[in-house]
Amino acid sequence: MSKKVYIETYGCQMNVADSETVAAIMQSNSFTPVTKISEADIIIINTCSVRDNAEQKIWHRLDFLKGFKKRNKHVKVGIIGCMAQRVADKLLEHEAVDFVAGPDAYRAIPELVNETDIKASHINTNLDIEETYSGIVQYKYGENAISGFVPITRGCNNFCSYCIVPYTRGRERSSSYTDIINEVADLRDKGYKEITLLGQNVNSYYFENRDKKVDFPTLIKMVAEIAPEMRIRFTTSHPKDISDELIEVIAQYDNICNHIHLPVQSGSNKVLKLMNRKYTREWYLERIQKIKSTIPDCGLSSDIFCGFSGETETEFLETLDLMNIVEYDSAFLFKYSVRPDTAAAKNLIDDVSEQEKIERLNRLIELQNQISLKKNKADIGKTLEVLVEGFSKRSKDYLFGRTQQSKVVVFADNNFKVGSFINVKITDVSSATLKGIAIN
Ligand code: SAH
Ligand code: SF4
Ligand code: F3S
Repeated sequence: MSKKVYIETYGCQMNVADSETVAAIMQSNSFTPVTKISEADIIIINTCSVRDNAEQKIWHRLDFLKGFKKRNKHVKVGIIGCMAQRVADKLLEHEAVDFVAGPDAYRAIPELVNETDIKASHINTNLDIEETYSGIVQYKYGENAISGFVPITRGCNNFCSYCIVPYTRGRERSSSYTDIINEVADLRDKGYKEITLLGQNVNSYYFENRDKKVDFPTLIKMVAEIAPEMRIRFTTSHPKDISDELIEVIAQYDNICNHIHLPVQSGSNKVLKLMNRKYTREWYLERIQKIKSTIPDCGLSSDIFCGFSGETETEFLETLDLMNIVEYDSAFLFKYSVRPDTAAAKNLIDDVSEQEKIERLNRLIELQNQISLKKNKADIGKTLEVLVEGFSKRSKDYLFGRTQQSKVVVFADNNFKVGSFINVKITDVSSATLKGIAIN
């Protein structure tokens, strides 16, 4: 009987996509992917290192797995993903861990699983600038899946001074556009209704061969054209690469969602410079203006964090001010967490106290909640197209789905199918969700 592999995923959407790649690799090596830990022969934990608390979560999980393995002696545990890359040796010292594989070493996992001797041989953290997992069709969990991720770039070259990703994921590389198009066509033919093109800096995509030079606006056009019935999303866009051309392509194609996730991180030029973000507050706000004037109903979201090295109260206020100007529909908000070996860890002092960070974070959250509520209230009375994703968590009489702008909408079920597009008239809102009545 084939061995069963259970994969647990932490961190970003790239990790979700990678777990599907790993499941596909395991399946083609005669393992069977399962969704219950109780069935597993192999447990794989796909990890994140972006902030210290992301890593703490994994250490706690490993303590649980130590006990789990005592009760299930045949089980093997592997750690993959960014933390596997960053602290491989330390992980392998943990009693629960049998093998470790970094983000470019997933093709080697079946071998690592089958090795039985010394622990030292159970580690593969080679970063490989060539690896894009070309030729692997991701394993899709669930029968009625309607949306999927398609990684188009891996790694990152930006070296924002606070960020661990360039160290754990290696240099940026783009998949060939033919691989990407084939993957999108495959998902389309399987009945998917939505895909998200993924990259740490997705809009710096660039691939050339003898026939063509393909940049991100060209690629997304190609994708939109081969899947006209599907919604196309993309994340994460770096502000430095939001060109007029890209904004115009988004406006031009109905099936490219009117939503841009454009992390600003900070509203202060001094802080942005220390972060090595490569743009200024003025540049960013000009790009937002261009988006708003070209795509009036464009949803906007951001990542912002407070308490970076040297951030004074005045500079923090500039971030709040920028949030008030842009009026994001939603934002992921964090407090700074020093990541070992990054430029900020080496060259800057983590001089904002923990208490101050927490206080600033609470102010970020409070302001964003107010703005989200205001933005959602402006949708009352509008009829919006919603892609039905499933039952509402609160009640089986209600469904939920998302608008193009990525806002969650809850509405009464009328035998609508998951995966259908329904027009919903918005009647009521909170800062987190819209409520409405289906009108078709
Ligand atoms: N490539 C994406 C996402 C990177 S990680 C991008 O460039 O936007 C997601 C978010 O985590 C970042 O946008 C940033 O807001 C936050 N982040 C990254 N490193 C961090 C750190 N050391 N401390 C706190 N937040 C961090
Ligand atoms: Fe990290 Fe910056 Fe790269 Fe995003 S763009 S992954 S924040 S280094
Ligand atoms: Fe985390 Fe790695 Fe993604 S650090 S955010 S899992 S790229």
